[in-house]
Amino acid sequence: MSTSEGSAMDELDTGVPHSARLWNYWLGGKDNFAADRVVADQILAMVPEMVASARADRAYLGRVVLYLAGEAGVRQFLDVGTGIPTADNTHEVAQSVAPSSRIVYVDNDPLVHAHARALLASHPDGSTDYLEADLRDPAQIIEGARRTLDFDQPIALTLLGILNFIPDDGQAAELVARLAAELPPGSYVAISHPTNEINGETMESALRLWNEGPSAKMVLRSADQVRALFGELELIPPGVVTCSQWHPTEDAEPVPHFGGVARKA
Ligand SMILES: C[S@@+](CC[C@H](N)C(=O)[O-])C[C@H]1O[C@@H](n2cnc3c(N)ncnc32)[C@H](O)[C@@H]1O
Repeated sequence: MSTSEGSAMDELDTGVPHSARLWNYWLGGKDNFAADRVVADQILAMVPEMVASARADRAYLGRVVLYLAGEAGVRQFLDVGTGIPTADNTHEVAQSVAPSSRIVYVDNDPLVHAHARALLASHPDGSTDYLEADLRDPAQIIEGARRTLDFDQPIALTLLGILNFIPDDGQAAELVARLAAELPPGSYVAISHPTNEINGETMESALRLWNEGPSAKMVLRSADQVRALFGELELIPPGVVTCSQWHPTEDAEPVPHFGGVARKA
């Protein structure tokens, strides 16, 4: 472990549940602690489909990156709200299509930082970088990303499962707009977001339970609210839909998590 990884581990408070670790638990990972599992299981008892939802979101990430690296020909990715590395991280999917792809990961969680090594194992023809930074500081994200990405060439900005941590609709849309403003034409923005429009009552009870705790507060948004986060960007078909049904490769049940991808003209 490097010094920076060591100090990141020192910052961890394992007694307070953390969203990235709950997500990791629902995805079947081992990078979580007892405090995370207690709350994750309480939420699962209310919303049993949370596991399906987390897995559908990861599968959506895979299909989005395959689409962007394949059909759309994008070679650069800015993945904000990366999460703890798991199978099929953005660089693995993108570089499986185009080994020269460059990826910058961004998260504000010291645990994700501590696992950054797994995210930096780039194909030798491409490159990856990791920034410990906060979505609420877009200028820092852009400055750091410029070390690896060429802002004169299309970039795919992915904001998956992160805008729900910005409770104010206006602030969330403003952050997307500020990041998108830095991207050249032909770039893409992908969002995924939990919702109360599918299984609304149980999702709201789970949200209340989470928000009563000490961790970063969350919101759920309707499809219209998620659409509004894209601002002036042009959504590509099928627009904002349950993420399990965005460019599906097989029949899939809806999950309470929306996804959509837009292109910057
Ligand atoms: C639910 S996970 C999603 C992980 C991954 N994008 C996915 O879809 O599987 C949300 C991630 O966003 C990160 N996050 C939450 N708020 C953030 C903020 N303000 N700035 C940067 N990262 C944030 C959390 O630490 C966590 O790793």
